[in-house]
Amino acid sequence: MGLAAFHSAKSILEFGCGTGAFADRIMRVVSPDCRYVGLDVSPVMTRLATQRLSKWGERTIVKLSDGSARLPERDGQFDHLVSNYVFDLLSPEYAAAILVEAHRVLNERGTLCLVSSAPGMSGLSRVVTALWERVWTYKPALVGGCRPVDLQSVLASDQWSIEHHKTVVSFGITSEIVVASRR
Ligand SMILES: C[S@@+](CC[C@H](N)C(=O)[O-])C[C@H]1O[C@@H](n2cnc3c(N)ncnc32)[C@H](O)[C@@H]1O
Repeated sequence: MGLAAFHSAKSILEFGCGTGAFADRIMRVVSPDCRYVGLDVSPVMTRLATQRLSKWGERTIVKLSDGSARLPERDGQFDHLVSNYVFDLLSPEYAAAILVEAHRVLNERGTLCLVSSAPGMSGLSRVVTALWERVWTYKPALVGGCRPVDLQSVLASDQWSIEHHKTVVSFGITSEIVVASRR
C-alpha cells in the first residue's frame, strides 16, 4: 500500500475487486474525500464487495463488469488504478487492452498499481513456476485459470514509467508488485 501512496489518493479504481477486502483496507487509510470504484466480472463477487463496503456509504461503488475490455469510466477520472491477482488470469491481448484503458481513465499524474503471480527466478520458486506452467498448459482449470506473468514486460514503456518494482516469494510462489506512473 505504501509504495503506491494510497494515503494521498482522491479517486481509486480497482479492476477485479473480488470480495472488496483490499478496498476495505484502503478506505481506512485514505482521506475522507477519497472515492472508490470497484469493478468485477463476477456477480457473486460484486454482491459480496457491495455488502462489505456498504459501511463506507456513497464513497464506494461496486460495479458489475460486462467482461469487455472497455472500462465503464470516463477519461482521466482516477488518480489510482489498482488490480491485485487479476492480470495472471487474463490473456496477453486482453491485458494489453486493459492497460490502454487504464491509461485512458487515469489522470495526468495517475498511478497504476499491479500485483500478480510472477515467474520464480531461483530455487524452489523456479521449480514451482515450471510445474505450474505445465499444469496450466495441460488443464488451466486445475490452477484456477491463472499462471505466472511478467508484469513489467506487459507495460509499454512509452505509456508507463515504472516507479517501484518488487518481488516477494512465499511458499515457493512468487508475487510481483509494480507501481507505475502514467506518461
Ligand atoms: C484471484 S481473484 C482476486 C480478487 C482480489 N483482487 C483479491 O486480490 O482478493 C480475481 C478476481 O478478478 C475478477 N476478474 C477476472 N476477470 C475479470 C475481468 N475480465 N474483469 C473484471 N474482473 C475480472 C474475478 O471475478 C475475481 O474476483
